[in-house]
Amino acid sequence: LFAGDTEFVKGVVAMSGLPAPDRLEVCFAGRSNVGKSSLINALTGRKGLARASNTPGRTQEINFFTAGEAHYLVDLPGYGFAHAPVAVVEKWQRLLRQYLSGRQTLRRAFVLIDARHGVKSVDDEILSLLDSAAVTFQVVLTKADKVKEKERAKVLDQVRSALAKHPAAFPEIVVTSSEKGWGIPTLRAII
Ligand code: GTP
Ligand code: MG
Repeated sequence: LFAGDTEFVKGVVAMSGLPAPDRLEVCFAGRSNVGKSSLINALTGRKGLARASNTPGRTQEINFFTAGEAHYLVDLPGYGFAHAPVAVVEKWQRLLRQYLSGRQTLRRAFVLIDARHGVKSVDDEILSLLDSAAVTFQVVLTKADKVKEKERAKVLDQVRSALAKHPAAFPEIVVTSSEKGWGIPTLRAII
C-alpha cells in the first residue's frame, strides 16, 4: 500500500450491495471507537477519507476503498457499545458478521484492539467467528500513544495469550498510533 493510493468506492448496508468479488481485500474490524477509521486515514495518508469521531458507532456501513488498482481496504462498523438505536445496531451487527464469515475475497482481517484495554469477550467472539470462517486475522494494537511502555507490555502479554486459543490468528501483533504515525509503515508493508 502506498500513501495517496486510495479512493472511496461505496458504503454498503446489505450483503447484496457488496462490490463484485473481483479483487482481494483486507478489512479493519474492532470494537466501536477503537480507531478503525483513523487507522485507515493514517495508512492512506488522507485525513478525512474514512470518517472518524469520538462517538462510538460512527461508522454504520461497510465502507470500501480502493488500494491501488487491484485491492480493496474495508472499513467496518464497530461491535460492542454504540450511540445508535438498538434496531439499527442489530442490523449492522448482523451485516458485519455475514461479511466477516462470507466474503470470498477477504484475504486478511485486521482486528484492532485498544492498547489500554486488551482483548475483551466481544473481541474473542469475533476471533472465534473468524476461526470458523477460516479467515486469517492479525491483531493491531491502537492508541499506543495513550499508554506507558510498561502498561503496553502487559496488554501485549494478555493479547498473546488470548491469541493462543485461535487457530486463524497470525502471530505477529502490530503496535500502532494513528495520532503519532507509529507502526503505520509496518502495517502498510504487511498490506
Ligand atoms: P466506530 O466507527 O464508531 O466503530 O469507531 P472507529 O473504530 O472507526 O474509531 P475512530 O477512528 O472513529 O476513532 C475514535 C476516536 O479515537 C476518535 O476520537 C479518534 O481521534 C481517536 N483515536 C483514533 N486513533 C487514535 C490514536 O492512535 N491515538 C489517539 N490518542 N486517539 C486516537
Ligand atoms: Mg469508524
